[in-house]
Amino acid sequence: MGGRGGAGPAFFRRNRTSADTDNMRFNMRFLATTVLLWLAACGFAWAQGDAARGGEKAQVCVACHGADGNSTNPEWPKIAGQSARYLFRHLQFFRDGQRVNPLMNPLVAGMSDADLHDLAAYYESMKVSPGAADKNLIETGRKIYQGGNPESGVAACIACHGPRGNGNPAAVFPKLSHQHALYTANRLRNYRDGAYTYPGVEIMKSVSAALSDEEIEAVASYIQGLH
Ligand code: HEC
Ligand code: HEC
Repeated sequence: MGGRGGAGPAFFRRNRTSADTDNMRFNMRFLATTVLLWLAACGFAWAQGDAARGGEKAQVCVACHGADGNSTNPEWPKIAGQSARYLFRHLQFFRDGQRVNPLMNPLVAGMSDADLHDLAAYYESMKVSPGAADKNLIETGRKIYQGGNPESGVAACIACHGPRGNGNPAAVFPKLSHQHALYTANRLRNYRDGAYTYPGVEIMKSVSAALSDEEIEAVASYIQGLH
């Protein structure tokens, strides 16, 4: 009767389930190890910048990032309200050619660490401008942000970037709240597709490895409205 047919799929499913679980355990273990290495690497000596001096040095940034750190072109990131630690780290990457971008690299090429600390302090003190999520994407986006994708092994964004997308300055997990969806989607595709070679990129490479293009669009839109 249905005995054999019923046992087959059940056996198959049981195997599938344990293989999937092993896979996910591996992913999560890998991620946990990577995060520990990341936190160890981020324990660098920290010098506080001077926001007022940063404001003077920011004249060359206004054209693209806006007078208040909020760019209007959605391919260019909003940097207002981002943590100084994350800003400084990435400004160093641009200056030293480790994060490659033809617009950013030449602008900061001649700057000292002190200049970059001042710029970072200045932009941290600004306020990010509001954005909204696309109503058609918000449900899928929220699911991924809050729960990841257990089937494909995508980790939940909320674990590191927080329920309101404010990140964690001490751990140098960046703030995501109200970022342009297009910039966020470009970043996620770049992480996934291996476009970056700067230090510490492994965490997001692992997080984004199994994200589909549709999931990226949805979660990026959700983040644009998140606060
Ligand atoms: C000609 C346009 C332009 C100017 C001027 C410019 N930027 Fe940018 N900036 C960009 C673009 C484009 C990106 C995104 C690069 C990428 O996708 O990797 C970016 C990225 C950044 C990031 C990374 C943000 C993140 O969330 O990872 C920081 C920080 C930054 N810019 C700071 C500055 C500062 C400080 C100045 C002035 C010294 C400046 N930028 C001037 C175009 C510009
Ligand atoms: C285990 C911690 C962790 C998890 C989980 C995580 N992130 Fe991240 N995320 C980071 C770290 C660390 C960085 C900084 C990486 C770098 O320097 O490029 C980052 C950077 C980013 C950036 C770049 C921000 C910018 O300003 O350029 C985006 C976008 C992002 N994450 C989105 C997500 C999304 C979407 C998810 C869920 C699918 C997620 N992250 C899950 C730790 C995490």
